[in-house]
Amino acid sequence: MIAEILTWLFTPATLDARRTGHLTAAVSLWSRARRCRSAWAPHEARCHAVVLRAFADLPRRRTCVVLGSGLVRDVPLAALSAAFERVLLVDVVHLWPARLAARRHRNVELVSLDITGTTDLLLGRATGLADPLRRFREDPTVDLVISANCLSQLPLQPVERVQAGGGLARIRFPDLGHRIVAGHLDALRRFSARVCLLTDSDGLDIAADGTVLERRPLLEGVTLPPADEDWDWILAPLGEWDPAYAVHHRAHGFADLHAAVARTDRGR
Ligand SMILES: C[S@@+](CC[C@H](N)C(=O)[O-])C[C@H]1O[C@@H](n2cnc3c(N)ncnc32)[C@H](O)[C@@H]1O
Repeated sequence: MIAEILTWLFTPATLDARRTGHLTAAVSLWSRARRCRSAWAPHEARCHAVVLRAFADLPRRRTCVVLGSGLVRDVPLAALSAAFERVLLVDVVHLWPARLAARRHRNVELVSLDITGTTDLLLGRATGLADPLRRFREDPTVDLVISANCLSQLPLQPVERVQAGGGLARIRFPDLGHRIVAGHLDALRRFSARVCLLTDSDGLDIAADGTVLERRPLLEGVTLPPADEDWDWILAPLGEWDPAYAVHHRAHGFADLHAAVARTDRGR
């Protein structure tokens, strides 16, 4: 608890990231990631393998953009740094583990950005959503975009804040969560660069005898095309959140999202 408070206080984060709850969420993720390190290891290894496949055949390797880079656990940073001229780690907040990891590579930069474009809406400074990924779409040097297990996380803070605060945003955007998830997927599809998507889609509460007690959709009603790979991410082993059940997330890896979408469209 003390470590969490100190991290919250001493992480260089914007006032916006503190006010919107993103810093608090990031600190709690860091804390959980430390406690569940061994349970998460197989998931992180699967993610690394998908990312390595995503650029194995890429002829040009100038800029790689990692969206939702977080603690940089589920992307192989050393391999990306060696393969690309420049790697941009994009997250609404960068905790010290990410800052230290970035410092080890001369071509890795941190970009602090709310990729949902909701911050101004949440803080009452705008009435609509911004398009924060546009700057990367318009950068002709971007050859690989990785959306790194952030899709299901993106609506959490905005929806919670809008529901708690009421006001105009709640009336104007009753479907805010759906818009954020669908908007992120749409923004990924509009990149001409290779796009690698890592995401979870469902949460399952699983009893000690393997019975599924509850299944929760995590993507606000948005469906994904069939992925290249699917696996279970043991998010909370038995006893981490509740002594009676473990929490698993159904996880998916798309080495090439454009190809997965094209396959689905052809099958219709
Ligand atoms: C499950 S974590 C991803 C883990 C991360 N890829 C790693 O390797 O450690 C989700 C990430 O999404 C980020 N995130 C959530 N909302 C965001 C937003 N609006 N803009 C940018 N990043 C956001 C969080 O800060 C967090 O780092």
